Amino acid sequence: MKIGIVGTGNMGRSLGILWAEQGHEVFFGSRDVEKGKATAEFARRKAQGGTNEQAAAFADVILWTARSIMPKQLLSHPEVLDSKIIIDCNNQDIPEGFAYPPIVESLAEKLAQDVPQARVVKAFNTMAQEVFELAPEPLKNYGVSVFVAGDNEQARKTVMGLAQEIGFLAVDCGVLRNARLLEGLGDFIRLIISGQKQGAYATISINVLPTASGQRLGGRQTSSLN
Ligand SMILES: NC(=O)c1ccc[n+]([C@@H]2O[C@H](COP(=O)([O-])OP(=O)(O)OC[C@H]3O[C@@H](n4cnc5c(N)ncnc54)[C@H](OP(=O)(O)O)[C@@H]3O)[C@@H](O)[C@H]2O)c1
Repeated sequence: MKIGIVGTGNMGRSLGILWAEQGHEVFFGSRDVEKGKATAEFARRKAQGGTNEQAAAFADVILWTARSIMPKQLLSHPEVLDSKIIIDCNNQDIPEGFAYPPIVESLAEKLAQDVPQARVVKAFNTMAQEVFELAPEPLKNYGVSVFVAGDNEQARKTVMGLAQEIGFLAVDCGVLRNARLLEGLGDFIRLIISGQKQGAYATISINVLPTASGQRLGGRQTSSLN
């Protein structure tokens, strides 16, 4: 697969290297051509580096790490993104005291509005960069969830595959509107990581337990709440 990285920072570099290791053709895009090229050299394998414009034009799947910078602002030809998959890994900036405003529209939905012909998928926003350093081994021993939301089912499946290849368990979270919930999870995990000093290796995952052998509590009954 051809993967473009827009914004070669912590997330772009980490995920780009992991996908390059899996044999994908990765193009590291940056505002600074030399930084893009240097990261490609660091990644080795089939990686290339250059501008964000080149990364967007090159790839079938684009990781968008430039939070709140919209394609129409950053690219002179945003239409190169039409029909392509854009992975949005962004979380809002951490406000003073973790006093997050309610999410009434996700960053991913805003991105999708800017490029309505692209297929935006929310993913990779609920774990810290440090977790990627464990991928794919020994990460795959820990069953860490990557939550994936997007309106196009095929695009979701593609991103789930990219998550699984590097050692995560992908969880299909349905339509892009659900990115509001996932971004809330991204805010929550950062509270746990930073605010409560659990450290950057704390993660949020879905665990499915075995069915209880009996129902000594009476089992689930119809709610009488209106
Ligand atoms: N780091 C984490 O642990 C983590 C985990 C989950 C989600 N996230 C989310 O992922 C996103 C990226 O995080 P990150 O840690 O990778 O941040 P980062 O290291 O700061 O990288 C973001 C990159 O975006 C580009 N950028 C910044 N300002 C820009 C601008 N005005 N115009 C165009 N490009 C710009 C820069 O790339 P160039 O210098 O190459 O242009 C920068 O390196 C954030 O929304 C963050 O909340 C981060």
